[in-house]
Amino acid sequence: MARSSASSSERPSSGSAAATRVYLDYAAFSPVDPRVVAVMRPFFEGGVGNPSAPHSLGLEARASLDGARAKLARLVGATPTGVVFTSGATEANNLAVKGLVSRGPRRHVVTSAVEHISVINACRDLEKARSGPCSRSGTSGASRAREASRSMWTR
Ligand SMILES: Cc1ncc(COP(=O)(O)O)c(C=O)c1O
Repeated sequence: MARSSASSSERPSSGSAAATRVYLDYAAFSPVDPRVVAVMRPFFEGGVGNPSAPHSLGLEARASLDGARAKLARLVGATPTGVVFTSGATEANNLAVKGLVSRGPRRHVVTSAVEHISVINACRDLEKARSGPCSRSGTSGASRAREASRSMWTR
């Protein structure tokens, strides 16, 4: 399972006795901090309500959620209403890219070929939905990115 493969001291069942597996892919998955597990355990193990529901379990869940939102907002210097919980990074990337373009004052996106595919696909969706240009720059495309951002200010 993920937890055991994330261990830095796990030894393989065969091969050299000196070999130790070291997990270095924390960008894709990292083990959950035991303090977070401790806080979340009651919610995982039962007694959790739908935070949108008006019954007592729902109200308790809403209070916990709002508390977490307020703490996170303080941590990053945001307002609680600006903190949106998502189910994962793909959803968050879509929300950020499409949300900014639909609501922000400047509707110009500059991205790079080395972005995560969920970012690139969100930009492609916008490109399809709009007739305006969507600039993409690769690893050597700094000048194209500069050019794109310059046109962003002059549009
Ligand atoms: C930058 C980035 N965006 C999106 C994802 C996809 O994450 P999820 O599976 O939570 O949608 C990953 C996963 O590693 C990522 O690193």
